[in-house]
Formats: sequence, C-alpha cells, structure tokens
Amino acid sequence: NRNGIDFAVADLSLAEFGRKEIRLAEHEMPGLMALRREYSEVYPLKGARVSGSLHMTVQTAVLIETLVSLGAEVRWASCNIFSTQDHAAAAVVVGPHGTPEEPQGVPVFAWKGETLEEYWWTAESMLTWPDGGGPNMILDDGGDATLLVHKGAEYEKAGVVPPADENDSEEWQLVLETLRKSLAADNGKWTKIAEGIRGVTEETTTGVMRLYQLAAAGNLLFPAINVNDAVTKSKFDNRYGIRHSLIDGINRGTDVLMGGKVAVICGYGDVGKGAAESLRGQGARIIVTEIDPICALQAAMDGYDVQVLEDVLGRADIIITTTGNKDVVRIEHMAAMKHQAIVGNIGHFDNEIDMAGLQRYPGIRRINIKPQVDEWVFPDGKSILVLSEGRLLNLGNATGHPSFVMSNSFSNQVIAQVELFTKYQEYDKEVYRLPKKLDEKVARIHLDALGGKLTKLSKDQAEYIDVDVEGPYKPEHYRY
Ligand code: NAI
Repeated sequence: NRNGIDFAVADLSLAEFGRKEIRLAEHEMPGLMALRREYSEVYPLKGARVSGSLHMTVQTAVLIETLVSLGAEVRWASCNIFSTQDHAAAAVVVGPHGTPEEPQGVPVFAWKGETLEEYWWTAESMLTWPDGGGPNMILDDGGDATLLVHKGAEYEKAGVVPPADENDSEEWQLVLETLRKSLAADNGKWTKIAEGIRGVTEETTTGVMRLYQLAAAGNLLFPAINVNDAVTKSKFDNRYGIRHSLIDGINRGTDVLMGGKVAVICGYGDVGKGAAESLRGQGARIIVTEIDPICALQAAMDGYDVQVLEDVLGRADIIITTTGNKDVVRIEHMAAMKHQAIVGNIGHFDNEIDMAGLQRYPGIRRINIKPQVDEWVFPDGKSILVLSEGRLLNLGNATGHPSFVMSNSFSNQVIAQVELFTKYQEYDKEVYRLPKKLDEKVARIHLDALGGKLTKLSKDQAEYIDVDVEGPYKPEHYRY
C-alpha cells in the first residue's frame, strides 16, 4: 500500500518504460481512444467498480485507463501466471501523473512468473475492495474471476467447501484452499459480492463456454456479455492476433528456423486458422488435426494436410495446440516425438498438453533452458522442448497480440461494460452478445485508421438487398 493504493507488482521503477510503451500503444488503439473522446464528458462508468482479470500487458493498460477515463474505479489481476508485462503493471499502478514514490493509478495484482498459489491470491485481492465490499462489474478473460465468485457463493450456501478429490488438479486444489480460507474468515463474503455484481463481460472462447454451461444449468448469478463472439473480436484477435504472436513466441523461446519444418496445428477454429497462417508465412509445412469435419475440410481447402496426431509424430518438428479442449497432446504422443520437437499451447488453459503426465513419466529429467523454456529429457536421451509449461505461449514467451488488434477486442469490452453497467435491469441472468451495429462501429473506426475507404450503399441498393443504409449489413446468422 503506497499513497492509499494497494497493489502487488514486480517493480514500480519500471513504470517510466511502461508509460512510454503505453503512449505508443495509444496511437495504435484508435477504437479505445475514440471511445475516450466519445464519452469524454459523459462518464458512463461513474460509480462502476470494475474487477478485471485479463493478461496485464501494455494493451490492457490502455484498456484499464480507458475504463478509468469513462469514470470507473478499477482493480486488476492477470488471468495467467506468465502473461504479465511487469513494466505495464508498474505504469498502471503509478498512473499517467503519479511517480513510483507517489503512485496515483489503479491497484494491480500481477507479476510475470506467479506461482499458482500466488495467482489465486491475486484473483481474490482483485475482487476484494479496500472497504471490504466487492466489484459491481467483472471484466473476465477465461472465467477465473467469475468462477471464484460462483464457487464461493455455492459453497457458502452449502456451508462447506468440499474436500479435494485425489484426481483434482493442483490448481483446483488451490482454488478450494483459497475458498476454504475465505469461508473461515468471512462466511457470506462471496454471496454478498455476487449480489452486488451487475454483470460480467467475457473476453475469450473458453470463458464463454464456461458461462453458457453456468447459464444452461440455471446457475449464472448475474447477466453476462459474450465479447468473444463479437465478429470484430473472434474473427480478428483470435485469428490475426495469433498470426502475429504465435511465431513471436516460438522465435523468442527457441529462435529455431521454421521454414521447411513440419508443424502440426491441433484445432482449426479461429485460433487454429491464425496459427496455421502464421507458420505457413515462415515457410513451415503445415499439418492440421481436427475433430470437426467442417473445420477439417476448411483446412484441406486452405491447402493443409489433415491428419491425426498419432500418424505424424515421427515427422513433426513443431506441435501447437489451439483447441480449447483437454488432453490433446498426451504423454504417449510426447514420448513418440522427434528429438528436440517443440511443443506449445496457445489455447486458454494448460490442460491441452498433459504436463502432469510428463512430470510423472518414469526417469524423465527437466532442464530449464531459460524462463518459460524447458527441455524434457526422456530416459532414452531423446528430449522435447516445452514452451511456457504448456500455458499460452504467445503471452508466456512473447508479449501477446499487438495493440491494433487488441483495440478491436477491447473496444467491444468497453462497450459491453457500459451496456451492462448502465442497463443491467434490462438483462436476465443469461449470456448475451453485442448488437451487430456496435460490431460494425468498431470495424469502421479501425478501417478508417488504416486508411481504408468504405463504399456507401445507395438507398436503392439498400432496399434491393433489404438492409438499412446505415447497417447492420448482415443477418445474425451470417458467418463472415
Ligand atoms: P474454436 O472453437 O473456434 O476452435 C477450436 C477448434 O478446436 C474447433 O474447431 C474444434 O473442433 C477443435 N478441436 C476440439 N477438440 C479437438 C481435438 N481433440 N483435436 C483437434 N481439434 C479439436 O475456438 P478458438 O476461438 O479458436 O479458441 C481456441 C482456444 O484459444 C480457446 O481456449 C480460447 O480461449 C483461446 N484463445 C487464445 C488466445 C491467445 O491469445 N492465446 C486468443 C484467443 C483465444
């Protein structure tokens, strides 16, 4: 706690560097800057207490300061143990006008290389406000903040936190431990927090899946906006963002030449499409694995070889998971890989690759090459390189997606926050998407910033294709 701000970051003296990069990023984030201008005298988030759980990067710093400029009070944590950029975290705490000695910014609880135990402490700190109350809005990425509030409230209702099962992951055991401690200290805390929340806006495919599961079971405690499925989010961030940041992560992690190598991309959804394009751009020979015949056929038509993982392990130099599913690369796969094959995941959680199985493999040896790069040596001397311990490598080994694409995603986030905060009474405890018109607005701003010129529909043409001259231009079922 310094100057009335509680925080936990690596080093406040990095704030000056962070501020310089934030200044450059602001120019590359025209959507967020346009929203700041649009709402400059309106403060639609006045009274909002936003608890955010999203990779604490330079781009996120611009998002946080946009929320603040719209009137919100904000507390922040990262949604991944490796994704924080420490200079960005420091700059957000210090704020644009503060100093490391007298910070004037936002409480941030995030540093690169948290332990899992520390991670859940940062999550609880971000959700616990200094006056003992909670947030009235959540901004989530992957759903961990939402999960903590829901599980906390559920166990408070039951009066007990269930004991960990021996099959539970280490991470889940830590969630239970966090909730057990908070239940002992203040039984009722999470129920109160949940009651005060007007809504959550969710950033990514995996978090959205969790929200739909909660809503289907009738267990969602507040309304949610699915930001991921805004077209200007998933068809841009998940694809073009990954096209940029996947090879960035592989390069910074390994510096291996990708041209001519055989790269397997597991999953050909939005992220998989960007991943395949990313590696093809380097001249890698791409193989795609899929379970969905439609996405598999798309991959084939895009010119990729569609195979099953088991059949290509002897040839694969690089294996990347992008599925959002679990147990995609299993221990038997890793044991059969080529010497020094590179294995990484870019989906939200680390369970796509069986890291627990790797650690338990009899006689296995781990050699840490540098932070977020490990060589795992099998007893026969063959080794594989695993990036970011199986966590999303574009944020663990590099700096995630660049500003311009995140400006699209985060403009949708800000619009969704304003919508739910100001109109929460109009929403049920369900999952909603933003209206297409707002999606088109986000696209317009970014097209403009790139110097693109949009053709204007004539009234006559608009009538002929049955749309309004001002949009929206496509029906809801259109897929882009
Ligand atoms: P998506 O649903 O569009 O694509 C996933 C694809 O994987 C689907 O086509 C599915 O059929 C396929 N799949 C599922 N199980 C499979 C298996 N066992 N083997 C092969 N293919 C399988 O989802 P999207 O939007 O591409 O997101 C994927 C993951 O990436 C999610 O966890 C999401 O949260 C995360 N994400 C990560 C980002 C990052 O910066 N690292 C950015 C955006 C999303």
